Amino acid sequence: MIVIAGATGFVGGHLTHHLLSRGERIKSFARSDQSAQVLSNKGIEVIRGDITVKETLHKTLDADDFVIHLVGIIEEKGSATFRSIHVDGTAAFIKEAQRARVRHFFYQSALGADLNSWSGYLRTKAEAEEIVRNSGLQYTIFRPSLIIGPWDGFTKKLIDMLKISPVIPMPGEGAARFQPIFIKDWLRCIDKVIAEPGQYNSIFEIGGPEHISYKEIVTILAKAAGYQKRLFQIPMGIMKLATSLFSMLPVAAPITSDQLKLLETDNIGNLNAVKEFFGFQPVRYEEAIKSFI
Ligand SMILES: NC(=O)c1ccc[n+]([C@@H]2O[C@H](COP(=O)([O-])OP(=O)(O)OC[C@H]3O[C@@H](n4cnc5c(N)ncnc54)[C@H](OP(=O)(O)O)[C@@H]3O)[C@@H](O)[C@H]2O)c1
Repeated sequence: MIVIAGATGFVGGHLTHHLLSRGERIKSFARSDQSAQVLSNKGIEVIRGDITVKETLHKTLDADDFVIHLVGIIEEKGSATFRSIHVDGTAAFIKEAQRARVRHFFYQSALGADLNSWSGYLRTKAEAEEIVRNSGLQYTIFRPSLIIGPWDGFTKKLIDMLKISPVIPMPGEGAARFQPIFIKDWLRCIDKVIAEPGQYNSIFEIGGPEHISYKEIVTILAKAAGYQKRLFQIPMGIMKLATSLFSMLPVAAPITSDQLKLLETDNIGNLNAVKEFFGFQPVRYEEAIKSFI
C-alpha cells in the first residue's frame, strides 16, 4: 500500500491522480471533513490524522506501507510554524513509521536545505532530513527546486499578479537563479523510487536542466501567457520596507520578508542530477510552461 501525507496539496494532487490512473491502491491522511470527502471521492482510503497531532497517527501505518511524506509549509501561520510542521511533525510521523517498521519512507525536502541556513524553511527542512536519515528505516529524500505544473502556487501567484498589474513588478534585479522542475518529471523520478526503493536509499537533488534567473522566469511566463507588459524594477530596499510594514498589520502580506530573501538567493544544484540518477533529461522551463499555461 502507498500511504501519502500531503495528498491534498499541489504535488500530492498530481501524485494521487498519477498513481490512481495506473490502478495503485492509496491511503491518505486528511485533517478536515472537506479534505476527507475530496480524497474519498477519488477512491482514496482516508486516514483522519494530522502529523502535528501525535495521537492521530498512532497505529495508522503497517509494515507493508511505502510512506510518502509531502507535508510542508512555505509560510508560517499561527501555530503552523516551520518547526511544528517540518521538525515536530516529521518526528511524530517517523515514530509511527518506526513502530510499524514500514518498508520505505519517502520525504520531500527542498533544494538548499541546510542546518545553517538563514531561512527557517530551509533550516527546518534540513532538521527533518536528519530525523528521517537517523530513523533506521529505508528512506529516500528528494530535494526539489521549484516544482511547476498545473495549479502550482508559484505560477498561480505570478499569473494573478500579471492579470491585475499594468507592469511586471520585479523585486530587485531578479538575478537570483532557480532550477525549475516540471511536475511530470518529478513524477517520473518518484516512479523509479516506488519501483526500486532499495536503489534509492539516499538524498537526491531534483531540478531541471538549466539555471534560470527570476527575471527570465517571469519574462518567459508573461510571454507564454500572452501578457505584453513592461518589467518594472522595485528596489529591494523598498520591497523590504513594505513587507516589514505589512507584517505589523493584521492582514496577510502578498510576500513575506523570508520569501523576498529567497528571491535574492540562488536556489540551484547539479544540472545533471536527474539524468545521472533517474536516467532521463527533464524538460526546460519554457517547454513545461507552454504545455500547461
Ligand atoms: N511546490 C514546490 O515548488 C516545492 C519545491 C520544493 C519542495 N516542496 C515541498 O514539497 C511538499 C509539497 O509541496 P506542495 O507545493 O504540494 O505544497 P502544498 O500545495 O502547500 O501542500 C501541502 C500539503 O501539506 C498538508 N499539510 C499541511 N499541514 C499539515 C498538517 N499539520 N498535517 C497534515 N497535513 C498537512 C496540506 O494539507 P491540507 O490540505 O490539510 O492543508 C497539503 O496537503 C512540501 O513539503 C514542500 O515544502 C515544494
